[in-house]
Amino acid sequence: MVLISTGCQATVFGRFAFRRHFFQHAGIRLARPNPISKDLYDIGDNPHFITVNHWINNSNAYEQEKTVEEYLQYAYGTPESNLEGFEFMFSLPALKDNFSAQCAKLCQENSPVVNGDHPIEALELGCGVGRSAFELARFCHRVVAQDFSSRFIQICNILKEKGQLPYNYTVEGKITRKAQAVVDSSIPRERCHFEQGDACNLRTDIGSYDIVLCANLVDRVPDPKKFLDSLPGLVKPDGVLVITTPYTWMENYTWSGKWIAGFMENDKEVKGFSVLQNILSPHFELVKKENIPMIIREHSRKFQLCIPHATVWNRK
Ligand SMILES: C[S@@+](CC[C@H](N)C(=O)[O-])C[C@H]1O[C@@H](n2cnc3c(N)ncnc32)[C@H](O)[C@@H]1O
Repeated sequence: MVLISTGCQATVFGRFAFRRHFFQHAGIRLARPNPISKDLYDIGDNPHFITVNHWINNSNAYEQEKTVEEYLQYAYGTPESNLEGFEFMFSLPALKDNFSAQCAKLCQENSPVVNGDHPIEALELGCGVGRSAFELARFCHRVVAQDFSSRFIQICNILKEKGQLPYNYTVEGKITRKAQAVVDSSIPRERCHFEQGDACNLRTDIGSYDIVLCANLVDRVPDPKKFLDSLPGLVKPDGVLVITTPYTWMENYTWSGKWIAGFMENDKEVKGFSVLQNILSPHFELVKKENIPMIIREHSRKFQLCIPHATVWNRK
């Protein structure tokens, strides 16, 4: 087996996102014949086993154009364009509301320092295509927003600079419609700072914040426990932490040896919310929990319906 790759995304445990311009250095790619799914994750105690097959076959979904367009539509598309022809789904009112805007609203409503007299600073980890970071900028004076995907950060920076970005969303097969992602012109976009980063290996000078938002991230990182353990250090005393997650534990993102929940132990179900409580409660008080449905449109007749569990925590 010969492997040459300069891309850290060659392993799901890589610490830096695979930068697109590194493709010029990509060398021999085939490391194992397909399929190797059985032993791909059978890596014992060694989480640094190179999961090349994963990289070739799945790549990092969050670097792919298909995902970028689906996320632009989910984050910036109108509910009417998203669910055209299926308006009956608006009977679930939350589907008409924008998920990212609702996350920012949860932060605002539960932060004791909003409307105080000092400038509010927010951190968003796993910011995707930036919609919630822009929403946070409505009431926060500075928003640092990170994502592992360099393509997503590129999109965020274009939206920050231009305030809009054309994209296509899928109707059926290769039929697409043109749309425009637009950041509300009343939002002071310059308050947002977007940077590529790994929530499991944050830069040491990241600082601490009045508001920390992690939307649908904890089940996407390679080491959820390490990530959760870093949160107390990121939230200022009395600050607020908002976590949303559908608890979708997947080998593609987290080696099962690192799962914190989603398995049986001594005949008991180990579930995500209890584990979050165990890990966070020494440092945070749980102030609220709710369900916030969201829909990602794949095409006009196929949608991912997800009901992330949103929990709001106040730093003790
Ligand atoms: C399910 S998406 C959620 C995106 C966004 N928060 C939202 O709600 O629309 C998960 C996001 O986490 C990012 N991500 C995955 N692993 C990460 C890591 N280790 N550090 C930071 N971001 C990561 C992905 O690139 C992706 O943008």
